[in-house]
Amino acid sequence: MAGAITLGEIQFNLAKKYFRDFINERRGRIEKLLKPEKTPVLLMDIEGVKKKYLKVKYNFAEFNVYYAVKANDDDRVIKALVEVGSGFEVASSEELNKVLNLGGKVEKIISSNPVKPPEFIDYAYSVGVRTFAVDSFTEVEKIKKIAPRSKVYVRIAVPNEGSDWPLSRKFGVDTDTALEILEYANNSGLIPYGITFHVGSQCNNLRNWFIAVKLSAELWEKARAKGLKLQMLNMGGGLPVRYNYEALSIEDIAYYVKGLMRKYFPVQPYELQIEPGRGIVGDQGLMITRVIGKATRGGENWIYIDTGVFNGLAEALGGIRYPFYIEREGKLKEWTIGGISCDSMDVIAKNVFLPEPKIGDSLYILSTGAYTTVYASNFNGFPKPEVVPF
Ligand SMILES: Cc1ncc(COP(=O)(O)O)c(C=O)c1O
Repeated sequence: MAGAITLGEIQFNLAKKYFRDFINERRGRIEKLLKPEKTPVLLMDIEGVKKKYLKVKYNFAEFNVYYAVKANDDDRVIKALVEVGSGFEVASSEELNKVLNLGGKVEKIISSNPVKPPEFIDYAYSVGVRTFAVDSFTEVEKIKKIAPRSKVYVRIAVPNEGSDWPLSRKFGVDTDTALEILEYANNSGLIPYGITFHVGSQCNNLRNWFIAVKLSAELWEKARAKGLKLQMLNMGGGLPVRYNYEALSIEDIAYYVKGLMRKYFPVQPYELQIEPGRGIVGDQGLMITRVIGKATRGGENWIYIDTGVFNGLAEALGGIRYPFYIEREGKLKEWTIGGISCDSMDVIAKNVFLPEPKIGDSLYILSTGAYTTVYASNFNGFPKPEVVPF
């Protein structure tokens, strides 16, 4: 009888299939880029980013889509998204300028970071941004002073369970406080425009959207009873991509969310917004790194590669589990993947099953289009991955 398939084989076969699919879907465009002279590089599929935006837009047809620039701020990515008509969510003057310089229209720019530096509010207001998120009374005071008569939308706290990159602890308020903030904004001469939430980045739990929409509907009704006529519901980001496990599809999430809207918002808000980052760029990037060392320590097999958590793979520290692939056959071994720097925190992944690599082999890391280059530093003098658009 043939032996049972091992966990390692399942993991490696999934990474291999994902790698092959990635190449096959881009046949004729990517082959010549797969053996770069210098690594690390991040191959970014710019056509793929456009297609992904259009897929989100098609499935969330009633929504205005604002790409969260923080996920990947490469000029070619932004320009491509301008070309297909995307809006943008920005948090800093740098992000704002970048979008404007690349042709983005100020009417299609929002800022959903609930705590903003005053200089940024000032600059955004001066170029015409009029919509800002808040989740505290002090933020309302700041906006009243610096950006009078702007529209504000309040961020509520919602469950982030099952999201690989939770965001809720730092931001968001309960619905009672949210109502007080909206009233305070109204009394401050601002326009209480709507509600926002974030279900957590890389969200694979539909229940988070369920609770979030339900809480939003309750707050909407409470606001109406107080004479505040809200107009907009912003559902933040959270759309997941495939890492070393399958993710919920955009189609399924859109279908579910639209069902929730019909149930809890019989009268649809005047404007619906989403601001995905990872869901648009995450699976359009392939990082190519090189194996620079191998070791066995206390029975643990180590591979060292020429990038690390400080140079592009920061999310590995917080629960993102990338698929890794090398083009070799042979018996699988369990590896810990160490980064290039001298810091012992610089460990990219544990329990990764791969055939034995040789020094100099390319190690491919899939789904590296989001939150990689934007987090990267030159720590220890090592370069950030060069972005190669195709
Ligand atoms: C306010 C806001 N909107 C949108 C996003 C994008 O989220 P995601 O990449 O999960 O789509 C983030 C991520 O941190 C965020 O903070």
